[in-house]
Amino acid sequence: MKYQPIGVFDSGYGGLTVLKEIVKQLPQYDYLYLGDNARAPYGNRSFDTVYEYTLQSAEWFFKQGCSLVILACNTASAKALRTIQQNDLPKLGADKRVLGVIRPTTEIIGQFTKSNEIGILGTNGTVQSNSYPIEINKFYPQVKVHQEACPMWVSLVENDEYATAGADFFVGSNIKNLLAQAKGIDTILLACTHYPLLINKIKQFVPENVTIISQGEIVATSLVDYLGRHPEIEKNCSKNGQLAFYTTDLPADFDNHAATFFGKPVKSTHIEL
Ligand code: DGL
Repeated sequence: MKYQPIGVFDSGYGGLTVLKEIVKQLPQYDYLYLGDNARAPYGNRSFDTVYEYTLQSAEWFFKQGCSLVILACNTASAKALRTIQQNDLPKLGADKRVLGVIRPTTEIIGQFTKSNEIGILGTNGTVQSNSYPIEINKFYPQVKVHQEACPMWVSLVENDEYATAGADFFVGSNIKNLLAQAKGIDTILLACTHYPLLINKIKQFVPENVTIISQGEIVATSLVDYLGRHPEIEKNCSKNGQLAFYTTDLPADFDNHAATFFGKPVKSTHIEL
């Protein structure tokens, strides 16, 4: 069978927290990870820019032989996925698919809350897109969704500041703002794939009775289900258990950081988009 890896994309390292869970649940497939580190973070960029960058990445994955690409980035899922699915995929090939992280999360998030008050922490782009309130409302109309944009968090993570006193200030104040929006918030979604790296800091500021949800496992479980339901796509995914990592910035930097996100040493290659 020819090499047809599953593509996993993020603006930087965050998507590795998703890839790690996907590989745990589906170790048999080949995976290609791309971090657009040279242009990260995406969170404060316009719709047009995030769309353009994400489309370039999707096209790159397809050129490498991927049929299926997962946008392991909420910002790209919120700002680019729908346009790519509706406008670009029909031209790129009938057997090509691009999936995001928002839909699998919103499908099940309502199962975690008893109070029906959910808090979303995400980038400016994700929060401004209103994707989470809109999508959660489709599945769980009784749930109230409260959002807080955390524009500094991705930079804290990408610059290894996630365990420092500097992180206390930003993490603490954003969580305080979120929790002030409604007394009953009992579930907080980390709606950015970088945020699991901040989990220890986040826990310091979130009361113990509040459930904190990361997306990696949710997205991985949803992919297992998707591949089971779509044999026509699954048959285009090669199975040699190989992993390859690419970055648009310096491979040495990528490898240094990526090990923390992925939990294992990583050796990346540079590409230009
Ligand atoms: N990991 C991306 C996300 O989930 C980070 C976005 C960014 O680059 O700002 O939204």
